[in-house]
Amino acid sequence: MATILGIESSCDETSASICIDGEIRSNIISNQTVHEKFGGVIPELASRAHQQNIIPTVSEAIRVAKIHKNEIDAIAFTRGPGLLGSLLVGTSFAKAFALARNIPLIEVNHMQGHILAHFIEDPKPKFPFLCLTVSGGHTQIVLVKNYFDMELVGQTIDDAAGEAFDKTAKILNLPYPGGPLIDKLAKEGNPRFKFPEPQIKDFDFSFSGLKTAILYFVQQNTKENPNFLQENINDICASVQDRIISILLKKLKLAANQLEIVDVAIAGGVSANSGLRSALVSLAEQEHWNVYIPKFEYCTDNAAMIAIAGYYKYLNNDFVSQEIAPLARWSV
Ligand code: KG4
Ligand code: ZN
Repeated sequence: MATILGIESSCDETSASICIDGEIRSNIISNQTVHEKFGGVIPELASRAHQQNIIPTVSEAIRVAKIHKNEIDAIAFTRGPGLLGSLLVGTSFAKAFALARNIPLIEVNHMQGHILAHFIEDPKPKFPFLCLTVSGGHTQIVLVKNYFDMELVGQTIDDAAGEAFDKTAKILNLPYPGGPLIDKLAKEGNPRFKFPEPQIKDFDFSFSGLKTAILYFVQQNTKENPNFLQENINDICASVQDRIISILLKKLKLAANQLEIVDVAIAGGVSANSGLRSALVSLAEQEHWNVYIPKFEYCTDNAAMIAIAGYYKYLNNDFVSQEIAPLARWSV
């Protein structure tokens, strides 16, 4: 029997989860609404909100799982990558909890956590598989050979896919975070505007040119018609989303073909995008892939993915000492 408490605090979500023998019993996420009015995450405010939220969030995760805190066998926490001040709150909490309870401490890489969210429920991917991990800070194609044996085969050379959604939303005067809203408006639109596709080598990505193209497109058209944005918002969202998806899936297909991998997954906040999910299902049918798409609650930041990763590390006795410090940058 192993009961793991997972803690996630890398960006603007404070989350705690209880995992018992590989089964998630609770996954509590406290969203920080304080950033909305600034159009992006303010690191200092994120750290302060984590500090306020962490104890109530952990207490709620323990209550929902119907256990007593003395039953926790180990604590797993996100060591990085992420905002340093945010990571410090989760790391300090985990170290103090481990020390007070005299239980092992387990570090988890946030990007590995996103990928390992696929091991929360069936069907679980077979190794080796390829994972397109798309979040607010990262866009990666990862060859997953085993739980903690992962190779980065491609990544963005500038903005992440989530950043492309969020920065486009800002240009379109939509609130932060832009991804979910663009997804919603795109459903009512027609992707009739054609935005450029970057020419980037191998399995790498680029999204900064797209952002600039959208900015010029909006400025030019608004000059001619001041109501251009309001009148065409759904079609613009559908067109931007369409291009982001085509950039992502083109490289995923290239990587799967060249590496001869037929088990393919997506993970991270942008994997909640309905257009990406359905386009991937169609591509998988065409390519005869086995495709793995996470449940919505395990796409965006959550502690269940940290708890499940912690569970597999617990089985390997993979623990860290009290000397551990967070890492703002940390590759898979
Ligand atoms: O994984 P995540 O929760 O946090 C990071 O680790 O960065 O990802 C957050 C990102 C944001 O950029 C957000 O706009 C995007 O995921 N996102 C979406 C959707 N839901 C969240 N992007 C497109 N469509 C969505 N439905
Ligand atoms: Zn994330």
